[in-house]
Formats: sequence, structure tokens, C-alpha cells
Amino acid sequence: FPFLKTFWRLTYGSLIAATALTAYSIYDTRHPADQAKPDPSKKTLVILGTGWGSVSLLKKIDASQYNIIVVSPRNFFLFTPLLPSCTTGTVEHRSIMEPIRSVIRNKEAHVTFYEAEGTSVDYENKKLTITETDNHDNSGSTTKVLDYDYLVVGVGAQNSTFGIPGVQENACFLKEIPDAQKIRQKIMDRIESASFKNLDDEDRKRLLHTVVVGGGPTGVEFAAELQDFFEEDLRKWIPEIAKDFKVTLVEALPNVLPSFSKQLIEYTEKTFKDEKITVLTKTMVKKVTEDTVTAEATKPDGTKEIVQLPYGLLVWATGNAARPVVRDMMSRIPAQKNSRRGLLVNEYLVVEGTEGIWALGDCTATKFAPTAQVATQEGIYLAGLFNQLAQADVLESEIAQLENIARAATDEASHKTILAEVESKARKLRRTRSLLPFEYSHQGSLAYIGSDKAVADLTFWASSNFASGGRLTYLFWRSAYISMCFSTRNRLLVVMDWLKVKVFGRDVSRE
Ligand code: FAD
Ligand code: NAI
Repeated sequence: FPFLKTFWRLTYGSLIAATALTAYSIYDTRHPADQAKPDPSKKTLVILGTGWGSVSLLKKIDASQYNIIVVSPRNFFLFTPLLPSCTTGTVEHRSIMEPIRSVIRNKEAHVTFYEAEGTSVDYENKKLTITETDNHDNSGSTTKVLDYDYLVVGVGAQNSTFGIPGVQENACFLKEIPDAQKIRQKIMDRIESASFKNLDDEDRKRLLHTVVVGGGPTGVEFAAELQDFFEEDLRKWIPEIAKDFKVTLVEALPNVLPSFSKQLIEYTEKTFKDEKITVLTKTMVKKVTEDTVTAEATKPDGTKEIVQLPYGLLVWATGNAARPVVRDMMSRIPAQKNSRRGLLVNEYLVVEGTEGIWALGDCTATKFAPTAQVATQEGIYLAGLFNQLAQADVLESEIAQLENIARAATDEASHKTILAEVESKARKLRRTRSLLPFEYSHQGSLAYIGSDKAVADLTFWASSNFASGGRLTYLFWRSAYISMCFSTRNRLLVVMDWLKVKVFGRDVSRE
């Protein structure tokens, strides 16, 4: 069978090539070349944040053209799509973190990093105040003022609570690593307390009841991960809790996953029913105490009723609100006064009412959804824009030099040659300066819905849509996220976590 022989040779060859490539990429990141020192003659570009938007900008920008300073309270990039999996130990948190130092150390030139928060922007004098986040010697907070030529705001968003009483004090959120760790700890904490012999029925049921508020992708994915944890591990290790363990998802709108297509919404709701996750739609949470959620439900006849949900764990996932530094900018810049959701930007992502300030990702108020996909594309766009601006600066100074030489030239022939060169560079400069506005290309949406099933709304060639849900989609979900992981290291760690959970189950010990 000559065909089989060729097939095996090709497979074998590709495997060797892939292994060699992986080994080379690991070696390359572990042995970065020496970097050029900061050059004071270059413009200073300050980037706020180490999330999806800022890091994709950082990856693509030519760092040798600027003095780049990155400021963020988090010295790592976080792969948020797998954060819900960290709450149950399906994936360990360090597997989805990538140190920012490994990104900046591999750039063409030195990039400075400050672990601090941008606290206020003096947009008229181009000054940024930053405050050290964690100071371990308790010496009080340290602030610094940075001068910038260009500033990029990529600070993301914080959790919205809509000012609902009791939420901030009693609920867990799911945005950052400490949030996932806190949830993981509380799940086990509630289960161990519920197994304590002397509890009455009501108290045990309450402790084992998790209420998830918000039927967007965060709430849905978390509810799914928790129910998986229960079905695959907890009910086997701690059978005495099985009859009382319960997950309820509360959503104010008539259905969960409002941004997905109708058939996927129905598929998700049916899957949740099969998984025994209770879904309460048209139910708006109004108040939270330390052990009860109070909500207003709209009945099919349109009348309202008050629902009380005693809980042991409350996870709040009702979307985004602007961070303090963004609110501060919105209140100072007159052109931003009418914005509520975030910074208003123009089609080049320039913050309205400012010069030299751009914003991207979840901290902006645009027509796009606040997703990693949008933030990444905006980051790539801004990197191209800054590379173009730097190229324009170089051309401008070359033209000025040539013009000086032309003025000093004595014979007409060389004068003419130099002027021709000036003209050609001026044409190139005009082309370089003609920037294109940002355009978003939507690739689709994916969400995990539990029991090894996922839903996918995919977009092909800008207009055709393909909706699918089930186990095959779950395999696609896994391979898509593995390929999107930040580094080879992250990919290997996540795959190892998944294998570990398949073989040994999730770790139920309480840290
Ligand atoms: P972020 O990624 O949030 O980064 C903000 C950065 O700014 C952080 O480094 C933060 O530490 C830093 N920062 C905060 N305050 C300051 C300050 N004052 N000064 C300086 N830096 C500051 N989207 C998808 O497309 N697909 C998904 O599957 C998906 N899954 C998700 C799952 C979860 C659980 C969550 C919470 C979100 C998910 N998202 C997903 C949404 C996605 O994570 C966000 O849209 C994306 O992170 C936005 O990127 P960003 O760069 O704007 O902000
Ligand atoms: P979201 O804004 O998508 O959903 C929040 C939900 O909470 C809404 O459906 C809203 O109706 C509901 N809600 C608000 N107040 C409520 C109340 N008082 N009571 C009951 N329900 C209430 O927020 P989410 O899920 O945190 O996502 C934020 C962003 O991140 C979105 O753009 C989302 O697309 C993206 N994301 C994407 C994921 C994916 O693609 N797999 C996963 C997680 C987030």
C-alpha cells in the first residue's frame, strides 16, 4: 500500500516538525536577546493594563520605535475564557496566567513595567498619576507622575452591581484570579460545613444551594462548571450531600445567553434542565442579605411576585461597569460627560475630547460587545497605527535632513536629485499618514454549557452564520481555546490539567 506508506511518512514528518518547532519556540522565549536601552529622543508611550487589549498591542508594536511603559496592578496576562474552569479546579489558575515579564523581555527594545494602578490622567498637560497597588512594607501608598506623549487606556471594567443593596458585601464575582480562588474555597467550605452532623435540614439545604445571578456567558459557564464538579466528583466523594446540592441561575430577561441565536438559547435551557440546574428567567434580583437573595419574578400573566432564595454561595455575574480611573476621566473631559458605560472613542480609538490618548477593550463605550475578541483586534489595530506613526516620524526627520542638505548643495544637479528624493519621501509620508479606521471582524461566540457540551455561533466570510451545540462543539470549544492560549507553556499546562481531571478527578481539598 504505497498510499499508506506516504500517509505515515507525512504524519511522522509533521509530528517531528511540530515537536522541533515547539522546542525551538520554548528555547527562544527562554533565551531572549539583549534589548536596546530606553532612548530619550523617542516618544514615550504609556500603556495602562495587561489584559487582552493592551497585551495584543504590546505583542505587535515595534518597541524599538518608542519608550514604552506598561502600568498595571496585575503583572500577568489572564486568559479569561478558562477562568470559570478555575473555580472548580478543572484548570489550575497558574495554567492560564502568563507573566508580563516574559512578554516584555522578548520585545525588540526595553519596556518598563510598573505594578501600579493608573489613578488619574491630566489630559491637558499629558501627565499620568500612578499608585503602587500592593506595598508589602506597609509604608503607605506610593504615587508617581509619568509624562507621556501617547497614552493607551486598556484597564478593562469592573463588576456591575447596579447599586443593589448587599451585593458588594455578600456576593462573589468572577473576573480575576482571586475571585476564582475565593469561589473554589467557598464551594468546599460550604460543603464541609453542610456535612457537619448537627445542622438542621433547612440550614444544610441553604448551605448547599448556589445562586448565580446573571444569565450571560459568565453566569452560564460558571453554573455549568459547578454542576459538572458535583456530578463528576462531589457526589462520589461526599455522597451525603447529593440530595441537597442545588444550583440556581437567575436572569432578569426572558432567556439566558441573550446574545446567542434562538436555537442555541433553547438548546442551553434544555441542557440545563437535563443537568438539573434550575433556571429562573424574568426574575430580577432586588436585594441580597448574607443568606438570602430577594428577587422579583414576572409570572406568565404579567403579574409580579417576590421570590426568596436562601443561599450558601452567591456568584454575581451581571456584566460590566466603568473602573474608577475611567469614571475620573469621564468626569474631567467635557466631551465624555454624557457617557455612562465607558470612554467614548472615535473610529481610530482616540478618546473623544483628547489628543494623544487612545482607549480599547472593555473600558470603552462602543457598538461592539465587551469581549476578548474585540479587545484583541483593537490592540492589533493600535499596534499597526503606532508603527505607522513612528514610521511617519522617521520620514519627517529624514525629509528635514534632506532639505537642509539641498539648501547647502552648490551645484544644481545634486540639488535637483535631493529634491526629487524629498518629493518621493513626502509621497511616502502622505501614504503613511493616511490611517484607516478600526474595523471589527466577528468570528463568532462560544460558551461551555456543561456535561461536555458547548454552544457555538460562528460567522464565516463576514455574513454566513453557523450555529451548533453539543459534544462535537465542545471538542471544537476545547481546541479553539487551546489554540488561543497565550503561550506554548499555557497550552501544555491546560492540556495536562484536563488530562489530570479525566484520570484522577478534581481536587476536593480545601486550601
Ligand atoms: P482586561 O482583559 O480585563 O484587562 C484589563 C487590565 O487592566 C488588567 O490587566 C487589569 O489588571 C488592568 N487594570 C485595571 N485597573 C487598572 C488601572 N487603574 N490602571 C492600570 N491598569 C489597570 N471574551 C471572549 O471574547 N470570549 C470568552 O470566552 C470570554 N470569556 C470570559 C470569561 C470570563 C469569566 C470573563 C470575566 C470574561 C470573559 N470574556 C470573554 C470577556 C473578556 O475577558 C473581556 O472582554 C476582555 O478581558 C477585555 O479585555 P481588556 O483588555 O479590555 O480588559
Ligand atoms: P452580560 O452582560 O453578558 O450578562 C449579564 C446578565 O445579567 C444579563 O443577561 C442581564 O440581563 C442579567 N442581569 C443584570 N442585572 C440582573 C439582576 N438584577 N437580576 C438578574 N439578572 C440580571 O455579562 P457577563 O456574562 O458577565 O459577560 C460580560 C461580557 O463578557 C459579555 O460581553 C460577554 O459576551 C463576555 N463573555 C463572553 C464569554 C464567552 O464568549 N464564552 C464568557 C464570559 C463573558
